[in-house]
Amino acid sequence: MRILTGIQPSGTLHIGNYFGAIKPAVELQERGEPFYFIADYHSMTTLTDADQRRQNTLNVALDFLACGLDPKKSVFWRQSDLAEVCELQWILGSLTPMGLLERAHSYKDKTAKGISPNFGLFAYPVLMAADILLYDTNLVPVGRDQKQHVEMTRDIAIKFNQTYGETFVIPEPEIREEVAVVPGLDGQKMSKSYGNTVDIFGDEKATRKKIMGIVMDSRTPAEPKPDADKNIAIQLLKLVAPANVAQEFEDRLRAGGLGYGDLKKALFEHYWNYFSGPRQRRAELAANLDYVNQVLNDGAARAREKAQVVLTRARKACGLQ
Ligand code: ADP
Ligand code: TRP
Repeated sequence: MRILTGIQPSGTLHIGNYFGAIKPAVELQERGEPFYFIADYHSMTTLTDADQRRQNTLNVALDFLACGLDPKKSVFWRQSDLAEVCELQWILGSLTPMGLLERAHSYKDKTAKGISPNFGLFAYPVLMAADILLYDTNLVPVGRDQKQHVEMTRDIAIKFNQTYGETFVIPEPEIREEVAVVPGLDGQKMSKSYGNTVDIFGDEKATRKKIMGIVMDSRTPAEPKPDADKNIAIQLLKLVAPANVAQEFEDRLRAGGLGYGDLKKALFEHYWNYFSGPRQRRAELAANLDYVNQVLNDGAARAREKAQVVLTRARKACGLQ
């Protein structure tokens, strides 16, 4: 079974990315043949700083490897090392109805926020379909916000198969419901673009400050809080602390007597502890960039072997050869 997912190098990775994408991807390494890549082409739709892209790409590689991606189990590469994906994008784009792309939530959200759309942003789901279909992918682990894109990939693949004959494997999304949306510090979905993140490998002082700054309501510590499960710090604590510890804090908050400051302090300590192993591993990798580049280059070579087989199949099916 081929498992594939991509992550954009559009900023610093946060714990929403970790619980929504990286952790499931690392766990899935035991279940199949994982193909994981850094979606640097996709990042071009919103980021126009070249140095920043290079730096972010390296950071994503370090973050992923530090968090447990094992290059012996997974193929890990930089998307733009395989320009084949752009050819497939064209082939698929020529079968993709405009109406389908106009309905994409991510496109509608971005334009609603006033981002003036470029062709790349509009075509984003077609490039994503090419990413997925190019490797005969069966399973795509993503956060809930990406589900629609995987559904579009299915629609495009089915249309191609109906038009030109059986060519592409139809993929399934895999959404982890329990961590489907990690809340950010302001209660909205945690996202690089909302400035409400806790970074996976954030600086100690700055992250403590961010967490201590989570805005709560003005109820006194003594007051019982029947809505304790809705509290952002509790929700985040459930991700980084052992289940019984998080439950204990939730019960104490509900009963009354636990101050928000103490709760936030506990959240910071558990967060810091949770990522201490990966933090150390990341520092080792950052001191050995030749190794990191070697992993990405080997990954690109292995991805290309598969991509060429599928691309040839697609080219033949639609009469390009
Ligand atoms: P961002 O919203 O910060 O720009 P991306 O869109 O680059 O994040 O998402 C990268 C991956 O992380 C995707 O698989 C996405 O579904 C997942 N992800 C992002 N934010 C969250 C979140 N708050 N909760 C769960 N998963 C998330
Ligand atoms: N669009 C995804 C995101 O922003 C990243 C991505 C690009 C992706 N290509 C992919 C995810 C293919 C899964 C499969 O999170």
